[in-house]
Amino acid sequence: MSGIKYFPPNLDVKGKKIIVRLDLNVPLKDKKIQDATRILQVLPFLEDLIKRKSKIILISHLGRPKGTRNSNLSLLPVYKYLKEKLNTNMYFYTGEINDEAKTKCSFLKESEVILIENIRFFKEETENDENFSKKLGELGEIYVNDAFSCSHRKQSSIYSITKFVKEIYAGPLLKKEITAIDTVIKNKKKPVTCIIGGSKVSTKIGVISNLVKIASNIIIVGAMANNFLVYKKYEIGKSLKEENSEDVVKKIFEEAEANKCKILIPEDCLVSKSFEGEAISKDIKSVEKDDIILDIGPKTIKIIEEIIDNSNTIMWNGPAGYFESKNFALGTNAIAQKISKNTKNRSLISVLGGGDTVSAINKSGLDLSFTHLSTAGGAFLEYLEGKDLPGLSVLK
Ligand code: 3PG
Ligand code: MG
Repeated sequence: MSGIKYFPPNLDVKGKKIIVRLDLNVPLKDKKIQDATRILQVLPFLEDLIKRKSKIILISHLGRPKGTRNSNLSLLPVYKYLKEKLNTNMYFYTGEINDEAKTKCSFLKESEVILIENIRFFKEETENDENFSKKLGELGEIYVNDAFSCSHRKQSSIYSITKFVKEIYAGPLLKKEITAIDTVIKNKKKPVTCIIGGSKVSTKIGVISNLVKIASNIIIVGAMANNFLVYKKYEIGKSLKEENSEDVVKKIFEEAEANKCKILIPEDCLVSKSFEGEAISKDIKSVEKDDIILDIGPKTIKIIEEIIDNSNTIMWNGPAGYFESKNFALGTNAIAQKISKNTKNRSLISVLGGGDTVSAINKSGLDLSFTHLSTAGGAFLEYLEGKDLPGLSVLK
């Protein structure tokens, strides 16, 4: 995307307070980081700012705490991790965004870093509240958005904050992501196949109705598929599903037909009675009321593998199952292996994105290669659609 103001690598930042919006929304389990990719990717920029003696104020969200403090979604584990990695004094600010925050930030010495606790603990963040954005903006003199993966959110620390800081830029990771995705968009070859999975249904389902225009095939997997299965009147038992998704799904099928795009949904699956249970393979017609669908089945894997072999561009976001358990990582791993093999052997253009997708790839332990692996999920899909993301529009 052209017109974005990127952080000038030679900008004089010595002694300047820089607010950096990052995506430190990493998967946690029992307050332990499951995959640190998103943190590791921003380290070089932070190290550079430290070396150049700026005063660094970090902002991020973690999960969706809906405006209340929730210790399970605290950034504390991320703070500890960063503190270990960065060779400097580092502080964790858990107070309100008010004069106290401003004072704390003004006490920073050169090369010191302060991380602000999960910004979504404040309901004003997701409301994109003006006053809150102003207070955030007053914490520093320069603002850098290095969270491409959050740039589809019209929220205070991404969007309205930019009105209240004089100097605003996009960070180097954001630049790297956009450059890579732009290259893929420019070079994409037909047939294009999109594989959409994961559980964040509400924010992705709208995207699919637009992707039908650029793709020959859309493969729906993961919890996303449950909405399509219900629409087709299949029993999904206790599986995760979005309320009132039927109308959107209907529209997707209609638009897919109008655009000659094939929509593929699972024909078989792996179910269990609980997330920790053993996997039972079932035809999609045989799911029972107390089953939870946790992965795609072998027949569906075979169909997807054939489509991948016959595609020239693959865009993939969202795991095919509950990959956190090895019993249900089979679909995700099979898709990853097939895409990787085609990328290596015949230069298939493959771009993958999403926090969980990246985490699943790392967890698989497989030696895989893709054209581009993005930290962004929802933002990546909306960008592919050709949308002007709110967080990027303000950086121009
Ligand atoms: C993500 O994980 O996709 C980003 O951190 C954005 O999170 P959100 O979908 O909760 O806004
Ligand atoms: Mg995510």
